[in-house]
Amino acid sequence: MKKTILYILFAIFILLQLIPVELPTTSMDNPDDLLLNNTDIPNEVVDILKNSCYDCHSNETHYPWYSKIFPTSILVARDTREGRLELNFSDWENLSRVNKIGVLEDIVTAITLEEMPMRIYTLIHQDAGLSSEDKELVINWAEEFSDNLYD
Ligand code: HEC
Repeated sequence: MKKTILYILFAIFILLQLIPVELPTTSMDNPDDLLLNNTDIPNEVVDILKNSCYDCHSNETHYPWYSKIFPTSILVARDTREGRLELNFSDWENLSRVNKIGVLEDIVTAITLEEMPMRIYTLIHQDAGLSSEDKELVINWAEEFSDNLYD
């Protein structure tokens, strides 16, 4: 009996894999990318953004193996889609000055309140969590970058 239930569950799991989940497309060629166009951003900040934010907030998403497996595929697809809608560093140069300033303010808030990077992400990608020093680096950069946009 127990075995039958296990077989059935396994069969259901396999069948669920037939549900198509479309992951947002990726691209490594993004001429309007923030980091590509602002080469004076400190290396430490570049590393943090790449390591802790770019999977969801750029077109350069690195999909892990479980993003191809239902039901984690649904979660990864949703977070990547919604993350890019909210902020896509690959399209940075297309933002107006006012929008850039607004996004930089949102970044400071999201990091200060520890809303970003998403908790579910840092649980799996432990090296993506931000130390207090990392937070300070990004916050200082975002504030300074924003100030320079006013000139
Ligand atoms: C696992 C995917 C994921 C990662 C990693 C991630 N974000 Fe987000 N981010 C989202 C999603 C989804 C939203 C929109 C929904 C929400 O606000 O929770 C969002 C929203 C935002 C917003 C809009 C304002 C807000 O708080 O809703 C900002 C700013 C932001 N993220 C910055 C960052 C920064 C900076 C990092 C890296 C330190 C980061 N995010 C890492 C998925 C992610």
